[in-house]
Amino acid sequence: MESNPFREEDIGARRVAEPCTLVIFGATGDLTHRKLIPALYNLAVDGDLPAGMKVIGFARREKSDEVFRDGLKEINKQVSRQGHNDALWDQFAQNISYHQSTFDDPEGYKSLKKRLDEIEADGGSPNRLFYVASAPEFFDNILLQLKESGLNQAENGWARAVVEKPFGTDLATATHLNEVVNETFHETDTYRIDHYLGKETAQNIMVLRFANAIFELLWNNRFIDHVQVTCSEPLGMEGGRGGYYDKSGALRDMVQNHLLQLVSLIAMEPPADLSADGIRDEKVKVLKSLRKYETVEAVAENVVRAQYTSGTVGGEDVVGYRREDRVDPGSMTESYVALRLMIDNWRWAGVPFYVRMGKRLPKKSTEISVHFKEAPEVLFNAVDADGSLGNVLVMRIQPNEGISLGIRSKQPGPAAQLQAVKMDFQYQTAFGKGSPEAYERLLLDAIAGDATLFARKDEVEEAWKFVDYIEDAWHKAAHPPRMAEYQAGSWGPVESDDLLDRDGRKWRRM
Ligand code: BG6
Repeated sequence: MESNPFREEDIGARRVAEPCTLVIFGATGDLTHRKLIPALYNLAVDGDLPAGMKVIGFARREKSDEVFRDGLKEINKQVSRQGHNDALWDQFAQNISYHQSTFDDPEGYKSLKKRLDEIEADGGSPNRLFYVASAPEFFDNILLQLKESGLNQAENGWARAVVEKPFGTDLATATHLNEVVNETFHETDTYRIDHYLGKETAQNIMVLRFANAIFELLWNNRFIDHVQVTCSEPLGMEGGRGGYYDKSGALRDMVQNHLLQLVSLIAMEPPADLSADGIRDEKVKVLKSLRKYETVEAVAENVVRAQYTSGTVGGEDVVGYRREDRVDPGSMTESYVALRLMIDNWRWAGVPFYVRMGKRLPKKSTEISVHFKEAPEVLFNAVDADGSLGNVLVMRIQPNEGISLGIRSKQPGPAAQLQAVKMDFQYQTAFGKGSPEAYERLLLDAIAGDATLFARKDEVEEAWKFVDYIEDAWHKAAHPPRMAEYQAGSWGPVESDDLLDRDGRKWRRM
């Protein structure tokens, strides 16, 4: 049954989720250590984790339960949002164990099944949540083995699968993975992770739009000039990330999923209801309406790709992208991408959505800004030549989550001098506490059976359709658009500024 994400109990009280056994494939990896376990620990600290919940880490390396738990504890101490308390940890960790097997060994799955059956026979939960967080080349195999061993069905409870990103590397691989997933689990039992959807401010986009009348009336091409989405990261290829990243690039790593999801939330029509499919039906229509850049010329005109050269970030000298560990010295993979998107539907015709993402930029920040059209150039605005003072609604996804609205105001004094001021709402100040980590919300939703904040099959495929044209122009065309450069620690290549300049616009200063 699909649930409504904004029910009263969500706003007032705590979400009720049934206990289950969570099996994490790829349990020795970074994601499990840095995100999943700390998220579960924080849910436990808040009392949100269902009592009787068990976690089994499934991975290739030989390890005892103790060694596995100790490794998790060390990282939890460093990253846990609410700090680390030994007594609470011990209580939490007694329900974590380790299961050693390669991902393609049927025996490993048979013994896992035996273990899960024993948990159930001992009065534990019959519900099973399989979290596929291994390296992507094993996704297929894990799902097929779950099917072969009958683990995809729970006789006395439910069986669900959470699938991590990257969900394919293009439309063909994503479609194939979708087929494998759907042969193994019903679509309604499949949870494709896009952790940006779990971010508090991303969830607030719909509330802002559909719980307040004042914005929605202006939310169209009559009043909005353009929209910008920026995601900047100072990080480069630390921790051996270059191996994965060099095969992916900014467009596939962040735009195909996270940033197109944000665009969908900004651009979607009001859903018929707040069910998972009600919302996803509307988001997918936005993706279908994205203008596809089918020729190399269209890609060159609307998309900029770039790599960083050496520079300074956060006071530290860093090497250029091609000199990073595990990156091909002749690499043609972009660490930065800027796009001019057009959504060809009635609401958005003629309104560009400028989207940019880059590694080794000056700071960590993700924000969406909605730039409203100018007031007529008469009265006060007759003397305001500076368009930068205009009305801009900014949604800060991270950090300092919040929303602000830029308006023009009179400076104190006898002259009618205008100045830009901000009406500002900050989560931390308004609610007195920081937002939970995205993975906390998403894990709890998967346990509770709410797929609203997960990508549906058709959303993933539509996003790939758009991205594939660009990747093809870059990597298969006889005369591909050029790769630009930017210095590490700068705000990106000049070509990206030119993309907006040509339309008489500028990137917002972050
Ligand atoms: C991941 C990407 O999905 O998102 C990373 O693979 C990126 O390259 C990360 O750094 C950013 O997530 P967040 O939550 O830190 O903005």
